[in-house]
Amino acid sequence: MAARTRSGAGGLSARTRIIGWMMLLVTLALVAELVIAARVLTERTEAEVDQELVHEGDKLRDYAARAVDPATGEPYQDVRALLAGYLAEAVPNTDETLFSLVDGQPAHRARSEPPTRLDTDPTFVARAAAIVRPTSGTLTSAAGPVRYAVFPVRIAGDPDSGALVVAEFTAPAAEQVGSTVQVLAVVSVAALALSGMASWLIAGRVLAPIRALRLTADTVHESDLDQRISVSGNDDVAALAHTFNRMLARLQDAFNGQRAFLDDASHELRTPITVIRGHLELIGDDPVERARTLTLVLDELQRMNRLVDDLMLLAKAERPDFLNLHQIDVTDLVMEVLTKVSALGNRYWTLSEVTDRTVLADGQRLTQALMQLAANAVRHTEPGQEISIGVRTVADRLRISVADTGTGIAPEDRARIFERFTRAGHRGDQSRRSDGAGLGLAIVASIARAHGGQVLLESTPGKGAAFTLDLPLTRNAIPHPRSSYAATDLAEARP
Ligand SMILES: Nc1ncnc2c1ncn2[C@@H]1O[C@H](COP(=O)(O)OP(=O)(O)O)[C@@H](O)[C@H]1O
Ligand SMILES: [Mg+2]
Repeated sequence: MAARTRSGAGGLSARTRIIGWMMLLVTLALVAELVIAARVLTERTEAEVDQELVHEGDKLRDYAARAVDPATGEPYQDVRALLAGYLAEAVPNTDETLFSLVDGQPAHRARSEPPTRLDTDPTFVARAAAIVRPTSGTLTSAAGPVRYAVFPVRIAGDPDSGALVVAEFTAPAAEQVGSTVQVLAVVSVAALALSGMASWLIAGRVLAPIRALRLTADTVHESDLDQRISVSGNDDVAALAHTFNRMLARLQDAFNGQRAFLDDASHELRTPITVIRGHLELIGDDPVERARTLTLVLDELQRMNRLVDDLMLLAKAERPDFLNLHQIDVTDLVMEVLTKVSALGNRYWTLSEVTDRTVLADGQRLTQALMQLAANAVRHTEPGQEISIGVRTVADRLRISVADTGTGIAPEDRARIFERFTRAGHRGDQSRRSDGAGLGLAIVASIARAHGGQVLLESTPGKGAAFTLDLPLTRNAIPHPRSSYAATDLAEARP
């Protein structure tokens, strides 16, 4: 079948694909979330450390402004003493170390044991001693990265230059951030796995009916179109199953119609073939007899030819391109038909009614239909009897009639005669066999239906029959012919 899905394997791989994409998207979102969380947390701890440093500087300034030297009872006059006093009061936390420099040398250190001593690191001490303005910076110590600030202190009158060094060890805070992100990552992966599993199960439940639909569709063959999908519930999937079943029903109709058509056609063709064969098998040497057989065979062949033409026409009537629509002047059309049909037989041909309306229709097909009706009328009338053709409009309908004054049609035959291969009144009567195969009215009904119309029949047995093509005047009323065959002709052709 051309309509295979790309996945081929159906529901299962559709599920894998959908969930695969979903998981990929969610994973990307989670990774982005983790990266952003790590950044935000890191920036926040860095800001906290910087604030801590600034705060330490503020405290020192504050201390210098208010503290008194216990040795003199006066405000500090000595840098070394000021820093010593400050450090004696300071309570650094565990990730922090404070010490003072006086004249470039480490002097005092706040209580508490830092992760590593920085006042004994000559490189750092030298770097800090060179600083003359409050400065912050970073360095890598034995205990990991350090963020530090140096606050130089001078007191007027004291020649010593001092500095307070504050250093924050940032490794523990970074570790904290790391483990927070790690917890987030673990929770995310767990959530991802859970949602993946849940989606897998839900998708499986949602797709299961579709899978069942596909499996049934796979088992439907041309030969057993009577299979249907069992429908439960009334959700979208059930609606799909109903649609599918209706499609199967239409296919079955069309298929049955085609099969009936083929059966009928081959049955009808078998008769002339048998006749031809019989005659050819028995052909003798007598030239007169041979000539007679030849004429008979040619006659049968001509009948077959007409039959095949009619069958082709009927088959074609089901196709959307059957009609070649134009605006046509129906009165002109009827007059032309009248000229043509007068050659069919010596009858009293009349034009009963005309209209000045034009209609969108296929002139050739309408002529074909009228010729069939006229031929029938001729066959069921005697020479000299009246046959009238006329066209009139009734509301939004156009009606073209062929009325004869012949034998008429019995009520019980009126629906039947529109079927293929049915000839009323003389079943098994071979005398009329050469006249037609019983396809004429089926063709007329098909042409009417292709125009969105129908065939009406009025008849009084013994007094005559009137066949009317009843067509819509407006184009939008013309539907596409349905794809089923003549099985439904009856209903629409019913008078
Ligand atoms: N004008 C008519 N008067 C009486 N009977 C008719 C008329 N037209 C058709 N019929 C009946 O309808 C049957 C089917 O007609 P049709 O489909 O044209 O097939 P065919 O002409 O090949 O017999 C005819 O055999 C005939 O019995
Ligand atoms: Mg006919």
